[in-house]
Amino acid sequence: MFLTIFATSILVVILLYIFGEQEKDVPPGPSSVPILGSIPFVPKRFRHGGRLHIPKLFNYLAQTYGPISRVYLGPLPTIVISDLDLVKEAFKKDEITSRPPMRPFHEFRYGTEDGGQRGVILSSGKEWQEQRRFSMRQLKDFGFGRSSMEDMIQVEVQKLVNSLHMETGQPLDLNFKMNISIVNALWVILVGERLELDDARLLDIVKTLDKLLRGAQVSGLLSVLFPTLYKYFHPRFALAKNTFESMRSLMTQAIEDHRQRFNPDEAPNDFIECYLQEIQSTSDPQSSFYQDQGLKSLDCVLIDLFMGGSETTSITLVWTFLCLLHHPDVQDRIHQELDSIIGPDSVPQLQDLPTLPYLRAVMTETLRVSSVVPNGVPHYVTVSTKVGGYLLPKGSAVMANIISPHLNPKVYEDPEEFNPQRFLDPDGKFQMPNSSQFAPFSLGKRFCLGQTLAEQEYYLFLAGILQKFKIHNPQEQTLPNYRFSADDANTGFVRYAPKYEVILESRE
Ligand code: HEM
Repeated sequence: MFLTIFATSILVVILLYIFGEQEKDVPPGPSSVPILGSIPFVPKRFRHGGRLHIPKLFNYLAQTYGPISRVYLGPLPTIVISDLDLVKEAFKKDEITSRPPMRPFHEFRYGTEDGGQRGVILSSGKEWQEQRRFSMRQLKDFGFGRSSMEDMIQVEVQKLVNSLHMETGQPLDLNFKMNISIVNALWVILVGERLELDDARLLDIVKTLDKLLRGAQVSGLLSVLFPTLYKYFHPRFALAKNTFESMRSLMTQAIEDHRQRFNPDEAPNDFIECYLQEIQSTSDPQSSFYQDQGLKSLDCVLIDLFMGGSETTSITLVWTFLCLLHHPDVQDRIHQELDSIIGPDSVPQLQDLPTLPYLRAVMTETLRVSSVVPNGVPHYVTVSTKVGGYLLPKGSAVMANIISPHLNPKVYEDPEEFNPQRFLDPDGKFQMPNSSQFAPFSLGKRFCLGQTLAEQEYYLFLAGILQKFKIHNPQEQTLPNYRFSADDANTGFVRYAPKYEVILESRE
């Protein structure tokens, strides 16, 4: 007995000697034990149905330990950065630009020769640089062939408005409607095919994406340290595998169809055609666009753009309508502005946005209160480095706690309240008084690749719908709360709006 205590004490002293030095400058945070990490030390109120409410936990860490903290999510050290100036400093660094290696995902996503991921959301290094640069260029290139990106989106806005006209006067769940139209707009841009809103394939993609994103959990990070255990025992792995595979079969089919009719001499009409041209013109075998490598990366990039660009944008619209139901005066002011600047007959266009300061303030305020990607997407430290005076050790995940500064009372007065007025100056002009603490699309080298497209879609759909309809709360419905403190449901990467219905009244 005595011998065991003696040996254990010696071991503890040796471990403290070895690791104590390294631990000196790391960010503060809750205690941890092997395997379970900090979970036993996390207040119970952050666990819902056996899952951690990550955004609320991170908010608590910001309040308790300051702008940089460290928590062990299971055995994985995770640095949480809750100040956007520090996020910017961190995410500019090459040492924190990679994603965590998630090898089990190779079962259903193509990997690179060096064991990394293909595509853009989960990839790192050269693959990520090349694929991101190309995708950003195409999505910023104002369209394909003879149609501008704006034209492509406008067609989908009109289709949605026409279909909503058939459903006025009765309770309606806008969630699925928004989702279908946003995915359809992406489908036109990426695949070049216009689908009807009730097309079976479209409904299939929307359902699959919804399952994939609602199922995505921060606990997926466990696959970094325990790939085999994760693969065989984590219940989410099978779900991710099935849903990724359904997405993949849709993408493979779309790529095959394009390859059959591909003519490198014709101007490309969609993203896939641009990509096939890039493959055709690449002669460097080291490039991620080279021949078969290029086709594998294309498969992953397409899935990533649908994953990144579908629910995020449609949910932002759904949050907006919920906030407007709570604040009918705000809806009235949007209608007044649209009526006086655009009128009932012209279609709201991108060039009109600078002349619509109130609508712009509403959009900015919704992006702030909803923060639909509250903690970004995990980054990974590949070489130990310092941020804000703290050491971020190699092998740690790094999360940008975006929602925390958005709801910080020192930055935004009465922060949980939806109040577009805070983005207007006394003359009613749009203003961004705290622009350094506003970043719904994250910051640094990996900021959202689809930001411009998302902002355009958000505006065109919102203005298009509100020009034609007034939205009401059905009499029998108690409106769900939009405030973060009332949100006990969202434990994944995306912050979903609670379910509610609206009644649409035509303004024509
Ligand atoms: C309101 C809508 C959107 C929001 C709030 C949003 C937010 C974000 C955030 C916070 C990140 C994480 C950045 C990081 O890792 O630091 C991200 C990444 C990403 N987003 Fe978005 N996003 C939106 C719409 C879109 C759209 C429309 C697309 C494309 C069609 C898109 C594609 C991506 C991709 C590909 C990434 C990964 C970038 C990379 O790893 O380099 N997103 N987004």
